Amino acid sequence: MDTKNILKCKPLTESPESYWIDSTSSKTYPPLAEDINVDVAIIGGGIAGITTGYLLKKQGLRVAIIEASRILHGTTGHTTAKITSQHGLIYNKIKKSLGHDMAKQYADANESAIKFIENTINENKIDCDFEMQASYIYTKDEKYAKKIQDEVETASELGINASYLESIPLPFSILSAVKFDNQAQFHPLKYLFSLSQQIPDDKSYIFENTRAIDIKRGTKLSVIAENGSKVNADSVVIASHYPFYNMEGFYFARMYPERSYVLGIKINEKYPGGMYISAEDPTRSLRSQKINGSEMILLSGEHHKTGQGPSTMRHYEDLRDFACTTFNVEDILYRWSTQDCMTLDGIPYSGHYKSSTPNIYVATGFGKWGMTNSTASALIIRDLITKGESEYMDVYSPSRTSIAASAKNFVVENANVAKQLISGKLETPQDDVEIKPDEAKVITANGKKTGAYRDKEGILHLCDTTCTHMGCELKWNDAEETWDCPCHGSRFTIDGKIVEGPALKPIKNEIRSQN
Ligand code: FES
Repeated sequence: MDTKNILKCKPLTESPESYWIDSTSSKTYPPLAEDINVDVAIIGGGIAGITTGYLLKKQGLRVAIIEASRILHGTTGHTTAKITSQHGLIYNKIKKSLGHDMAKQYADANESAIKFIENTINENKIDCDFEMQASYIYTKDEKYAKKIQDEVETASELGINASYLESIPLPFSILSAVKFDNQAQFHPLKYLFSLSQQIPDDKSYIFENTRAIDIKRGTKLSVIAENGSKVNADSVVIASHYPFYNMEGFYFARMYPERSYVLGIKINEKYPGGMYISAEDPTRSLRSQKINGSEMILLSGEHHKTGQGPSTMRHYEDLRDFACTTFNVEDILYRWSTQDCMTLDGIPYSGHYKSSTPNIYVATGFGKWGMTNSTASALIIRDLITKGESEYMDVYSPSRTSIAASAKNFVVENANVAKQLISGKLETPQDDVEIKPDEAKVITANGKKTGAYRDKEGILHLCDTTCTHMGCELKWNDAEETWDCPCHGSRFTIDGKIVEGPALKPIKNEIRSQN
């Protein structure tokens, strides 16, 4: 590693901020204030919820999108926005576990999602920096050489335009790579704000700052908001990232959350084009983005389970070190992080929530491939609601048989949750500790385990560190200044407000102006 370049490296920006959110402004929508009736209630205003709402509205259905915070400000607002069917080395894995036909379904669903996004942009004349690009997975590690060859072979067999390479246009040498042609990238919020604007009117709605807390089943389905108002509907789509509704589906035991990090950097040399990701860890992912007449490189990676591992700032620092040893970095313009829901077999859960809940649908677990997977999921759910079937429903089905085949992953993930739950309870908090400005510690206050963060003005923010979802102990996230749950990924602000679910209730907190 070129340590001289690391020493010369530019500082990270002080606060995290997504370029996508920073460079767009959206219309705001009111909260739900009274009971309403629609055909379909959609919980979650990310790419999956907005695309589903757009598609169903076009079919003549009345829809209501209910978003706990602001639409498109969650994972969708923090993505790297690669529109690709290349989701790591997934095709050979699906072929081996589920067979050729299911791998073909997955490939077709994602290639169709790319086409759908391109056609929608053209039809609606959306100016969203859409560009066709090649996508590459590369390796420098002998262990992945055979897997790369197998992936080229399987992807080609499935009809994807895939090729094998021993070099890529980036300024470092590799062992081998698999390249997919005809992939794309864009500015996701410019695209999705355009779709979202077409939803409200003609008895269709978007509601922001409206947290759904329950679904009641009767002659109709009723989505209950925190303030007691209801959306009554024939069908409900849960597209809220980590499903908040735990009735029967046990999604919390079949998924785990991961965080990863993005830097927006300016480099002095010309970026060669293309979207890249390493096969091995630590993941390094790259693409470019036009910004004010010049170019910014989005460098991302460093995934880890939410609430687990060392200081989260270290992940940004490691990405910065990679940037400075790879390119001549002129400036670091942005840093932000994101959270993804991972499934046991790497394929999303999209379709009927459970066979016993025929009018409740779910779209979740997009891994880190939310642009195409969520678009494919929206197309599947539209077809299930309007036609009763979809050509891609089997591979995405939340009840597919491969999940049972992932029993080993089920045991590993749930053992991890149990370990986090128990070890968090056993840790002894410190007594009488000094907390410096911009520092957080778990302390004992009034005989109780308490998270304490002192802000830059010296004010102490105290909160209960017990997660309101299922009681795991929260961990401090120094890069984002939040309390994060290592079990299912709920996150809370320093004052206990929910940043991410599945938790439905804030944590108890107290603010002290001194000590
Ligand atoms: Fe499930 Fe915290 S998110 S216990």
